[in-house]
Amino acid sequence: MTETVRWAVIGTGRISESFVPDLQSAAAHSVTAVWGRSDERTEAFAGAHGIPTWSLDLDDVLGRDDIDAVYIATPPATHVSIALSALDAGKHVLVEKPMAMTAEDTAEIFARAEARGLFAMEAMWMKFNPLHRAVHAQVTDGLLGEPRHLRAAFGMPFPAGGSRWNAELGGSTVLDQGIYPVTLALWMLGPVATVTATGRVRDGIDIAAHVTLEHDGGRVAQLGCSIVEFIDPSAAISGTAGWIEIPAMFWATDSAQIHAGSTQALFHTPDLLSHPREGNGYTPMIRAVNAAISAGLMQHPDHDAAATIATARVMDTVRAAIFDGDL
Ligand SMILES: NC(=O)c1ccc[n+]([C@@H]2O[C@H](COP(=O)([O-])OP(=O)(O)OC[C@H]3O[C@@H](n4cnc5c(N)ncnc54)[C@H](OP(=O)(O)O)[C@@H]3O)[C@@H](O)[C@H]2O)c1
Repeated sequence: MTETVRWAVIGTGRISESFVPDLQSAAAHSVTAVWGRSDERTEAFAGAHGIPTWSLDLDDVLGRDDIDAVYIATPPATHVSIALSALDAGKHVLVEKPMAMTAEDTAEIFARAEARGLFAMEAMWMKFNPLHRAVHAQVTDGLLGEPRHLRAAFGMPFPAGGSRWNAELGGSTVLDQGIYPVTLALWMLGPVATVTATGRVRDGIDIAAHVTLEHDGGRVAQLGCSIVEFIDPSAAISGTAGWIEIPAMFWATDSAQIHAGSTQALFHTPDLLSHPREGNGYTPMIRAVNAAISAGLMQHPDHDAAATIATARVMDTVRAAIFDGDL
C-alpha cells in the first residue's frame, strides 16, 4: 500500500516551478515546506503553490518532523552537501540531475542513504517517461534485431547568465545537457567499454562536447551536447532489423517513429509510438518514487545507484578529456 510522502522542496527556480504541481497532483504526496534564498521569492513560491511553510534556513527545513523526503533543485555543485545533510537529518532524497558533480560524490550520496536506510535517486525523469520506456521495451524485446548504434544530442544556445554559466555552481553542458544522451546510451546499449571525447571550454565551463562510446559487444553511441549552438536534439537507436527515431526534444517528447517490423514501416511509412505526457512530465517518476519509498527500498530498480554512477563515470571521463584531466 502506498503511503503519503510529505516533501520539502529545496530551491525555488524554474524546475521547481514545473515539478511542484506534478508532485501536488500525484496521489499520496504533499508538499509541507519550501526552502529558498530570498524572503520575497520563497514566500511568493510558497503562496503560489499553496505550501504551508517556507524558510531560508536549510537546517530548519531539514529538521522538521512533518517531512519524509526532500526534493533538491539547486545548482549542481550544491547537490552533494544538501543531499548528505538531508540524509543525515533522516530524510529520503530525490536529487535533480546531475545528482552530483562527479561519480565519487554520486557514490557517496548512495552510500550515505544505504547507511541510513533511506531512499536516494537522481530525478532522471526520462527513464520513467512512458514513451521512453516503450522504446526501451521494443529494443529489449528484439524489434530492432541486435541493437548496434545510438545517436543522441542536446545542443542549443542558452542565454548568458544564471547558474548554467557559473563554473563555481557547476555550470557544464556535459552535466546539464549531455547527461540525457549519455543516460539514454547506457540504458539502451548497456555498459561502456571506452569513451572518446572532444569539446570546448569557456570561462571554466565545458560548453560543447562530442562523444563516442564503445559499448560492450562493439555497439557504438555518438553523442553531442552544447550550450552555444544547436545540435539536432533528436535521437535514434538502430539495429540489425531497423531503427527507432525519437524526434526533438528527444528527452522530453511523447512520440517516436518505428522503422522496423514490416517492409512498410522500414521503407515507407514508419509506425508511430505515442504516449501522451502526464502533467509537466514528472508524474510517472513521482509515482515510481512513492512506490519505492512505500516499499522501503533504498534505490529505484529502474534508475539505481549502479546506473547513476555508471553515467557519472562516463561524464567524468568526457569532462577530464575536455579539461585535459583537470576536473
Ligand atoms: N529535470 C529537468 O527537466 C530539469 C530542467 C532544468 C533544470 N534541472 C536541474 O535542476 C537543478 C536546478 O536548476 P534551475 O535551472 O532551477 O536552477 P536555478 O534557477 O539557477 O536555481 C534553483 C534554486 O537554487 C538556488 N540557488 C542558486 N544558487 C545557489 C547556491 N549557491 N546555493 C544554494 N542554492 C542556490 C536559487 O536561488 P535564487 O533564486 O536565489 O538564485 C533557486 O532557488 C539543476 O540541477 C538542473 O540541472 C532539471
